Amino acid sequence: MLNIAVFASGRGSNTRAILENIDRGNISARIALIVSNKRDAGIFDIAIDRKISFRYLNPSDFGSDEDYSSAMLSILDEYDIELIVLAGYLKKIPSTIISRYRNRIMNIHPALLPAFGGKGMYGIRVHQAVIDYGVKITGVTVHFVDEEYDRGPIILQEQVEVHDEDTPESLSQRVLRVEHTAYSKAIALFADGRLKIQDRRVYIQQ
Ligand code: GRF
Repeated sequence: MLNIAVFASGRGSNTRAILENIDRGNISARIALIVSNKRDAGIFDIAIDRKISFRYLNPSDFGSDEDYSSAMLSILDEYDIELIVLAGYLKKIPSTIISRYRNRIMNIHPALLPAFGGKGMYGIRVHQAVIDYGVKITGVTVHFVDEEYDRGPIILQEQVEVHDEDTPESLSQRVLRVEHTAYSKAIALFADGRLKIQDRRVYIQQ
């Protein structure tokens, strides 16, 4: 069984959706560990409810990037983590971890990358930017994580229409519902060994 670590900073609705899909047998994996940089993150309640091990890890508690990275690596080793799933995690993953987990760290972004992504583009800001720009279609992108924010190889994308009467909030709710299914789909494909990566293209094998 594939061991997943979820990293999150917030409420954790994507994590709940992933757990439900694991329960239904749609993903052959288990969430072995939850990590957050926020002590009061909603995600910790999920960990307690579901009896999942959790760790608080905050870069500012460490003297150097190296110390922070090695603390993270030893936690990941302790739980035999094979896939890291970022679900609303607002800290950058150190480059040592990215190279050690190359193409084994996933992120979900609430827009169609490469548009409306990059540093500082998270949460409601993304949906505000989508509406301000006037695009008619937005969506969800699940991608592997590399050294740059929101740039790694794209695993899958799903679209969501922007309505004339949308506010950033109404749009974010519709996009979030799509996130909840798309993330589980991508994780299931990974768990089944169906993702093949060549350069920055991700092929889904039948
Ligand atoms: C989601 O919108 C996701 O796209 C973004 O952060 C948000 C996390 O939401 N990366 P939740 O904590 O899973 O509810």
